[in-house]
Amino acid sequence: MSQLRDLLEVHTDLDDGAVAHLEALLRDWQILSDLSFADLLLFVPVEWPQGVPAFLCVGQMRPYTAATVYQEDLVGEVFPRANRSLVARAFAEERVIRDADPDWSTGVPVREEAVPVGYRGQIIAVVTRESNVSMARSPSQLELTYLQTAGELAVMLADGAFPFEAGDVAETPPSLTTRVGDGIIRVDAKGFSIYVSPNAISSYRRLGRLQDANGQHLSDFDPDCEGLLDGLAEAEPVEAEVERDGTVVLRRMIPLLRDGTVVAGLLIVREVTDLRRHERALRVKDATIREIHHRVKNNLQTVASLLRLQARRVRNEEARLALSESVRRISSIALVHEMLSEESQQRVDFDKVASRILAMLGDGLLNPEVPIDLAVRGAAGDLPAEVATPLALIVTELLQNSLEHAFPPDRVRLDVGNGTGHVQVRFDRAPSTLRVLVTDDGVGLPEGQSIDLVANLGLQIARTLAESELGGTFCILRPGASALALPGTTFELVVPLS
Ligand SMILES: Nc1ncnc2c1ncn2[C@@H]1O[C@H](COP(=O)(O)OP(=O)(O)OP(=O)(O)O)[C@@H](O)[C@H]1O
Ligand SMILES: [Mg+2]
Repeated sequence: MSQLRDLLEVHTDLDDGAVAHLEALLRDWQILSDLSFADLLLFVPVEWPQGVPAFLCVGQMRPYTAATVYQEDLVGEVFPRANRSLVARAFAEERVIRDADPDWSTGVPVREEAVPVGYRGQIIAVVTRESNVSMARSPSQLELTYLQTAGELAVMLADGAFPFEAGDVAETPPSLTTRVGDGIIRVDAKGFSIYVSPNAISSYRRLGRLQDANGQHLSDFDPDCEGLLDGLAEAEPVEAEVERDGTVVLRRMIPLLRDGTVVAGLLIVREVTDLRRHERALRVKDATIREIHHRVKNNLQTVASLLRLQARRVRNEEARLALSESVRRISSIALVHEMLSEESQQRVDFDKVASRILAMLGDGLLNPEVPIDLAVRGAAGDLPAEVATPLALIVTELLQNSLEHAFPPDRVRLDVGNGTGHVQVRFDRAPSTLRVLVTDDGVGLPEGQSIDLVANLGLQIARTLAESELGGTFCILRPGASALALPGTTFELVVPLS
């Protein structure tokens, strides 16, 4: 939930629609701040302390086009009504209120303007535009155009016409938001340019439009402007890209309205060629990485089948078992690579991995004399590749041990607990750790057996991977009561996730 929504829900009784309107404003008000060369603060009325009218600052935006007035963050601060008389008047008079004289209380001369925020015929908040007038230069045409447009947006804000209804502008990734500094063109209601900023000229030149855009109709210099002109005519903001000869330019048309009629348009123009090229390169890279995982998986599967073939040929039982175990270990690594080849991020859904390991082990190894119920409980969630691979191996080893050692037919009494053994993997995911329990209700570890004292490979692999690869802890938990009246075995693994 956004900070704005939090503040509004705790301190005001604005309804959902009004809150959404203010959220939309906060998504779009960088433009207003930049065009105004001003800091923006958003205020709502509160009582603080109880019964005493005050204003709570619920939003702050600094301009890219000018020095900020406020070094400090004011969101969440409460201002006594007397200190914010312009805001109070904007609420009471429901119109834009301008300061006659600059305010010197912050040490620099600040000119303030309070703009009411209209929504469905009501004033739900007030935005102040505060600019440091000591920095003011003699205004150029660019600055005059900015200020004129900012004034129009402010009036639209009071009328409830700005921000535009949510959903009007297609969602674009944050890296693609347009800023007025990228380049602007101000057009009249018919689409003739009134002012073209130098950056906008450069962008159109790169598109191959060499003629001067000043005073021209949009269709004379923009090769694909129909959508933009439609948006202007219909008072709907439009965002669209145009590509010519490898150059990509993003344009955003913001219709400027007065009493519901389009009086002009602000076209923000941003060349995004490099950004698009970069994105394309990333996509290619991503596909390459997945392809490599796919090949690694195939190679591992080939290795596993070679070993499997060999296992069939050797006579020595011990050697045959050792080979089959290697097949199983390699297969569980292959499984993780297979998952990685399917995901675009280098993360895997480990719950899927776990259930596939279970299926793989269940297939070949269940001892028909003692039925075993294999299950996964809890959820591991997404894990980065470097955690998923060792974890898959550890889980495989521990499950394999339960299947292999926990239920020797000669020691399991089939008349107790339905004669069914239970093997479970339990995941417990916290924000910064993952706890994994592998439990069975079998015969328990042999007397004197501990994870520090093993000559065999399985527990050694599990322990080494847990401690050195994953930086986690690995231990045996005390046996609990079991349905088969056997002590059972539980291994606990705690993996830190950064
Ligand atoms: N869940 C279990 N229930 C009962 N005994 C177990 C269990 N897990 C391990 N053990 C005992 O601990 C010993 C060591 O296990 P470990 O996995 O290291 O070796 P292994 O399974 O015998 O051989 P490997 O895994 O190398 O094929 C096993 O031989 C077995 O006696
Ligand atoms: Mg083992």
